[in-house]
Amino acid sequence: MTTLYVYPDSAPDRGQRVEDSAEISRILAEAGIGFERWDAGRTLPEGADQEAILEVYGEHVARLKRERGFTTADVVRLTPDHPQRAEFREKFLDEHTHSEDEVRFFVEGSGLFCLHIGDQVLGVHAEAGDLIAVPAGTRHWFDMGPAPHFAAIRLFTNTEGWVANFTGDKIARRFPMLDELPGSAQ
Ligand SMILES: [Fe+2]
Repeated sequence: MTTLYVYPDSAPDRGQRVEDSAEISRILAEAGIGFERWDAGRTLPEGADQEAILEVYGEHVARLKRERGFTTADVVRLTPDHPQRAEFREKFLDEHTHSEDEVRFFVEGSGLFCLHIGDQVLGVHAEAGDLIAVPAGTRHWFDMGPAPHFAAIRLFTNTEGWVANFTGDKIARRFPMLDELPGSAQ
């Protein structure tokens, strides 16, 4: 189940857990974060490659390209035994921003997006069916956990613009990681 954790940015131990999907959407919308639930009932074909996954969600991807001006879509997929899983996890685990929106639609598994907005940290434990759109300039980090299991469609307006600009703030290391969330299976 998609879960949101709301923390004061100075108190990682005072997270409030929100499970109600309407409430999650409301809190994220208020914070300027795009959040959509798409039909998660679609089963991916066994061993589906990037093209097959994009085909399954073709209508949604086309709509987002139209509405938000994206030019490119691809699929990133990580499995628990991926040989570079530790390296990939580290890459986005510190607070950073991008000069364009970061849009991810989870088609399989789950991951933790943490958004640092004002004096709050919003931790979105996103799962298959969730689309999250982090506006350009928003401080955030992403944790795929020590044994990553997710596939996500990524949408870009300019792949060259999508570079992580690290803030140098080690805030991410003070907050619960994916495998430390209450009830985490990882
Ligand atoms: Fe990012």
